[in-house]
Amino acid sequence: RILILDFGSQYTQLIARRVREAGVYCELRNPDISEAEIREFAPKGIILSGGPDSTIGEAAPVAPLCVFEMNVPVLGICYGMQTMATQLGGQVESSSHREFGYAKIRAHGHSAFLKDIEDHTTPEGFGMLDVWMSHGDRVSQLPDGFKIIASTDSAPIAGMADEERQFYGVQFHPEVTHTTQGQRMISRFISEICGCETLWTSANIIEDSIETIRQQVGKDEVLLGLSGGVDSSVVAALLHRAIGDQLICVFVNNGLLRENEGDQVMAMFAKHMGIRVIRVDAEDRFLSALAGENDPEAKRKIIGREFVKVFDEEASKLTNVQWLAQGTIYPDVIESAASKTGKAHVIKTHHNVGGLPEHMKLKLIEPLRELFKDEVRKLGVELGLPSDMVYRHPFPGPGLGVRILGEVKKEYADLLRKADNIFIEELRAHDLYDKTSQAFAVFLPVKSVGVMGDGRRYDYVVALRAVETIDFMTARWAHLPYEFLDLVSRRIINEINGISRVVYDISGKPPATIEWE
Ligand code: XMP
Repeated sequence: RILILDFGSQYTQLIARRVREAGVYCELRNPDISEAEIREFAPKGIILSGGPDSTIGEAAPVAPLCVFEMNVPVLGICYGMQTMATQLGGQVESSSHREFGYAKIRAHGHSAFLKDIEDHTTPEGFGMLDVWMSHGDRVSQLPDGFKIIASTDSAPIAGMADEERQFYGVQFHPEVTHTTQGQRMISRFISEICGCETLWTSANIIEDSIETIRQQVGKDEVLLGLSGGVDSSVVAALLHRAIGDQLICVFVNNGLLRENEGDQVMAMFAKHMGIRVIRVDAEDRFLSALAGENDPEAKRKIIGREFVKVFDEEASKLTNVQWLAQGTIYPDVIESAASKTGKAHVIKTHHNVGGLPEHMKLKLIEPLRELFKDEVRKLGVELGLPSDMVYRHPFPGPGLGVRILGEVKKEYADLLRKADNIFIEELRAHDLYDKTSQAFAVFLPVKSVGVMGDGRRYDYVVALRAVETIDFMTARWAHLPYEFLDLVSRRIINEINGISRVVYDISGKPPATIEWE
């Protein structure tokens, strides 16, 4: 396995995902990790990530010295290369040429790291690479034992290597897809240079997890809150495979789900897979708790609180349960670790509703704790979940509660469900669903005038929202074809009695958020 020391770059999680994609397990840790912890982790290779600091600065973070004394290969990326250079006796200077974005670099063909990896070759026979650069400082003097392996005009030392000790440094970012040969470089490092076997595959992960789960829970019963979202669905499928009927799921219909969602979840998990699922139809409860409330945050809290109450009531009827399963995934783990050390570079603003009262005293089981979202999806497919479920757009915990502006009413939710369903149905039919990251309809409780045949209509407005994004922190509105929007709009107005106007949201994030509330 590979250890990645995280110096705070926005791309560090990408490094981990690339390593995993190449079939090798890795973990992210802070650079202040102790030597003992590193030795216990026993990495076959270490990657030092990029970061926002300057090694020239006084309090610049460094890698623990043992990293360079353990006889394992080390790859430093951007800041990671600079700290490697400084710590091993080289020098870094701040460059007058800051480079951000695409760059072409010349590879000096002899290194084990870059050998035969190139996008094209110059007439003189140099390999050229299209890479993604993002740096201010640059290495100005190599440490002893190092050679230059790549250069650009503004960074003559854009890559360096000490082949004997197997230390490599690159100024560019192999982990981002803009570096076209990046995945090959990372695979080269971990497989050929570190000698890791590529055992991190969905099938192996499933097999190992099943073994661990069985040992952990023995004959006990496990409770899971199943929402129908990707994470809880995959946990359900995995636990069911591991412990069969010892798994009991509770599915709460809060009245704020999408069209037919409750029936679909039951059909899939209870009927098709034979999982024990208790369905609680609590629409009335949620809607009466929400009555009269207009404030978005207050609505979120009410929905969260009600969920806990309902779930708690169901759970307390089950007397044999000792475990609570949760769909926590690796980014959640990294984020909560980062926020504890104050190094939070990704600030998550939303958490799923839920969380259980202390008194339940259930032991926690989190089988996806080590996995990234894309790994969870692959696992889901491998476990036999349909891919349109596994690749479904994210849906917020409070559901339609934050897509009905202001007070939530059943009438509004019913209209919104129909409109949303038409939009999604057409996106799928036109092969646009997977090209957008999240798409949905929003209900606006204002009435506008329309004409239908000879009569006037005075009905509600629906807004359509579709965005493209990688991380949901920033997003651009999807430039859906006009003809497509026209079709969706006509269907909504013609088919849904109660909606007379459809608008399309053309706001980016920032400044607008993806949801309207
Ligand atoms: P915003 O609206 O902040 O949304 O741009 C970013 C992503 O978070 C989702 N979201 C939520 N998810 N509970 C959730 O579980 C919430 O309260 C919540 N609010 C927003 C949103 O759907 C988008 O994917």
